[in-house]
Amino acid sequence: MKIGILISGRGSNMVALIDAIKSGEIPDSDVAVVISDKADAPGLEKARERGVETIVIERRGRPREEHDAEIIAELQKRNVELVCLAGYMRLLSKGFIRSFENRIVNIHPSLLPAFPGLDAQRQAIDYGVKISGCSVHFVDEGLDSGAIILQRAVEVKDDDTGETLSARILEHEHGAYVEAVRRIATGHLQISGRKTTFGITDE
Ligand code: GRF
Repeated sequence: MKIGILISGRGSNMVALIDAIKSGEIPDSDVAVVISDKADAPGLEKARERGVETIVIERRGRPREEHDAEIIAELQKRNVELVCLAGYMRLLSKGFIRSFENRIVNIHPSLLPAFPGLDAQRQAIDYGVKISGCSVHFVDEGLDSGAIILQRAVEVKDDDTGETLSARILEHEHGAYVEAVRRIATGHLQISGRKTTFGITDE
């Protein structure tokens, strides 16, 4: 499976995916390209160190559709079959989503449908929930609203700040994202409307 990863920043989830592909934990897959909308995203260097091609495609005040069209063209040129958003801080246009229907996944730092959008960890603390976590989901036209592939729960502690909770959730994000992409890569993830199921293993 040819994978394209979109980032805007640090890229720790991107690193987890690249390393899991290199180690064979995600089988028969290859990261064809990492695309960032920010020239100074620290994740770019981490991708290059791992021998992965990187491209910067900035928005430069253009309409979303035009920016996305350039990204789509680069992905299609490399026959990308699955797009992984990994801290990509932009909403995708309808055209992007339709070009890769059920082939775009994202990781979000809350137990969806709670706390979609920005600052999910802060939202969880402000709301006072005792459990939060992370969700890997398909991307549809809504905000963090596509079918959920898997979730991991994380305790919210009384003295948590946005930073401490983010760090604890992040520890679970990497494994969750790798497992979700592994399920897709092995061809055993079924999607039916909002429901995804993963029944069979070949081990
Ligand atoms: C993660 O918390 C992820 O859930 C969210 O953005 C953050 C990206 O972190 N979508 P990183 O760039 O993967 O380190």
